[in-house]
Amino acid sequence: MQQFETYLANNLPKVTTFHPLYEEALGAMLQAGGKRFRPMLLLSIVDAYEPLLHDSALPVALALEMFHTYSLIHDDLPAMDNADLRRGHPTLHKRFDEVTAILAGDALNTDAFLLIAKAPLREDVKVKLITLLAENGGSQGMVLGQAIDCWFENKPLTLDEVKVLHTNKTAKLIAASLQMGAVIVGLESSVQKALYDFGIDLGLLFQIQDDIIDETQSEEQAGKTTGNDSDKNSFVNLLGLEAAVSEADTLAKDLQRRFESFDETMQSALRPLMEQYLYRHQ
Ligand code: IPE
Ligand code: IPE
Ligand code: MG
Ligand code: MG
Ligand code: MG
Repeated sequence: MQQFETYLANNLPKVTTFHPLYEEALGAMLQAGGKRFRPMLLLSIVDAYEPLLHDSALPVALALEMFHTYSLIHDDLPAMDNADLRRGHPTLHKRFDEVTAILAGDALNTDAFLLIAKAPLREDVKVKLITLLAENGGSQGMVLGQAIDCWFENKPLTLDEVKVLHTNKTAKLIAASLQMGAVIVGLESSVQKALYDFGIDLGLLFQIQDDIIDETQSEEQAGKTTGNDSDKNSFVNLLGLEAAVSEADTLAKDLQRRFESFDETMQSALRPLMEQYLYRHQ
């Protein structure tokens, strides 16, 4: 974790320009913190299977965090969730302005792919990593989820449709983070698939918990604007708080069972993260 933070601090976007705040805006939300869940998923797998690849994987881990941070910067914009607080700081459009936040998001999105392209890894591995990030983050992944999330504000969806929404907006990037770790260390495709499928349900749980956080935590506790989902198809709005918590518990138990079917190396790689995020409601 500390190594990742150091790497991030040393590899913030650097742009020499006479624009007075462009460079600062690109790095601000990355520096603001966050749980670093996606890079940690990837690096945990790399460290467990091929620790010598740790340094080569750092740019890929940072790419995931940059891509995720872009999605948050855009998510907070007035046209989307209109949020004022993120990672304990004013959102980027509040600190600077909307144009700067839109463009900083655009830049982080694009530069994430550049980071992977330049990583000291085999070319075929990098093509696979870029493909996974694009497939899960783009028009068939996170962006689709955000489109459904915003289009269907105040238009109730069914539980199955909300699962599709959450799978796209959140779970696919989390699943991709796991698979990308597996790709870097060369795990076989059946293991990659099992990890990806596990990641989808882990990501679904992560988003249900996020919906619960919106309902139950203060801005100070969450470090972001909360009580902001009233127009949304969140799990809490659909099921009520109690049923959302019990849905999270059920999913967590199922994930725990599947986690135990992974080999010992994988279990020890992921156990700390699972304990932090999977078992929270048990
Ligand atoms: C928030 O993601 C948005 C969701 C996809 C739930 P995180 O909860 O990972 O936010 P940070 O990275 O810790 O700020
Ligand atoms: C956003 O979901 C998921 C993204 C793809 C950014 P939310 O809108 O629920 O995330 P928060 O609660 O603002 O972090
Ligand atoms: Mg949103
Ligand atoms: Mg939001
Ligand atoms: Mg939320």
